[in-house]
Amino acid sequence: MTPAKQDGINFYTRKWVKPEDLNANGTLFGGSLLRWIDEEAAIYAIIQLGNHRVVTKFVSEINFEGSAKQGDLIEMGLVATAFGRTSITMRAEVRNMITRRSILTIERIVFVNLSEEGTPAPHGYSTITYRRDRMPTTHPADE
Ligand SMILES: CC(C)(COP(=O)(O)OP(=O)(O)OC[C@H]1O[C@@H](n2cnc3c(N)ncnc32)[C@H](O)[C@@H]1OP(=O)(O)O)[C@@H](O)C(=O)NCCC(=O)NCCS
Repeated sequence: MTPAKQDGINFYTRKWVKPEDLNANGTLFGGSLLRWIDEEAAIYAIIQLGNHRVVTKFVSEINFEGSAKQGDLIEMGLVATAFGRTSITMRAEVRNMITRRSILTIERIVFVNLSEEGTPAPHGYSTITYRRDRMPTTHPADE
């Protein structure tokens, strides 16, 4: 496992908290937030590993530190913290854009790079790319 050299977390995606994202308490539903983070992490893994076939393997303890209410703007950030042979480990953070307060942190999200057969495959990377140089050039349905 190679620790990734980090320039800090990048907040790529913003969300507007809408009525369908709320729990019975009238605040952001944790399940909605986790779905957004998992999708964000999948896109990040695809860009870092240059492969559409990546799957969530492990998510560490999730600490909901704060909340958000309808109409709030939130932003989600991810950074790769380690590159393994077939895996990538990321750290996630979600914060309120207005207050800058943290809503959630996840120390470790692990995605595994898969072959066309669906088995773990070496990805060959050990550093973070900040460009689109590894972006897959084919559509998964055509492979
Ligand atoms: C992903 C999957 C193919 C991996 O199979 P596996 O038999 O665990 O494969 P391996 O033991 O070779 O491990 C693959 C990588 O995952 C890592 N890994 C395995 N278990 C892990 C765990 N509990 N925590 C963190 N990393 C783990 C290994 O260290 C390895 O990484 P490395 O090659 O960089 O060292 C298999 O577990 C699977 O299909 N899981 C379901 C994935 C899925 O569908 N996710 C969506 C949610 S339903």
